[in-house]
Amino acid sequence: MNEKIKLSKPYLLSADDLTIDDINNIFVKTHFFMDNHKTGVKYDDLKSTIVSLAFFEDSTRTKLSFELAAKRLSADCFSFQAKTSSLSKGESVLDTLKTIEAMGVGIFIIRHNCSGVPVFLQGNTNGMIINAGDGQHEHPTQALLDAFTLHKHFGDLKGKKVCIIGDILHSRVARSNMTLLNTLGVDVSICSPGTLLPYDMNAWNVGIIDTVDEAVEWADVLLVLRLQRERMESGLLPSIREFSNYYSITIEHLRRKPELMLMHPGPVNYGIELDYSISKLPNVLIETQVTHGVFVRMALLSLLSGYAN
Ligand code: NCD
Repeated sequence: MNEKIKLSKPYLLSADDLTIDDINNIFVKTHFFMDNHKTGVKYDDLKSTIVSLAFFEDSTRTKLSFELAAKRLSADCFSFQAKTSSLSKGESVLDTLKTIEAMGVGIFIIRHNCSGVPVFLQGNTNGMIINAGDGQHEHPTQALLDAFTLHKHFGDLKGKKVCIIGDILHSRVARSNMTLLNTLGVDVSICSPGTLLPYDMNAWNVGIIDTVDEAVEWADVLLVLRLQRERMESGLLPSIREFSNYYSITIEHLRRKPELMLMHPGPVNYGIELDYSISKLPNVLIETQVTHGVFVRMALLSLLSGYAN
């Protein structure tokens, strides 16, 4: 492996920060870490780096997989718990960052419920910010692991058809995937109730599909999203049951087209956007995405390590 390879930017705030070469380099490195993985074996890439997981919003997959990835690269890694911090005493997010930075942290992995916080913090630190999800804006490492999962399954992704289904308006996963999949030459469409479509659809090169039946017919892959009710204003949906009737993916959809693959970033609300019964079907890649997430994040951290303090 050429250890000198670096990504084009010394941080990751948006899927837009990644060139096609960056993405390919991350995939090559991800393959390396996957192929050589043995439990307990560590690499030295972050041996002299302190990594802080600063999650101001809840997370299971993203936080745990970043933690595992950083530790496998020998980082000193600690979690900042927003709920038990001095934020509750009125300390600002920026002061919190500066406090953690004063302890020698070089890499901050940030999740926040407000869009734009990682960009704001990157402008106010000498450290490196990695966006682990900000509001409804971006979640670039989720898009990377989704794209890697597709690449592992299909090989070359140019011309493959991915339909993102569900609550696009509130989804940072959808926004990062639309950008990153476009960079890779994937043909992307979205399928959603009109009230859950973003207002700025022209910002992406994506088609709109009206019904789930048409999406099943058109796509090689369905990327299904949950209703992100914590980010939703009232009045966008008549009822959850109504949404489910029209936009839920059922076992019958997957039986109709056995080669159709299904992904979901999690957490899944079974019974709303997906049938309970489909989770164990071979064309459902939800757990594979989680497995890949650790190796993709190792690759990302490794390729960014040359920039870290
Ligand atoms: C997503 C997230 O939290 O942005 N999940 C994840 O990171 N795996 C999706 C979501 O919010 O629904």
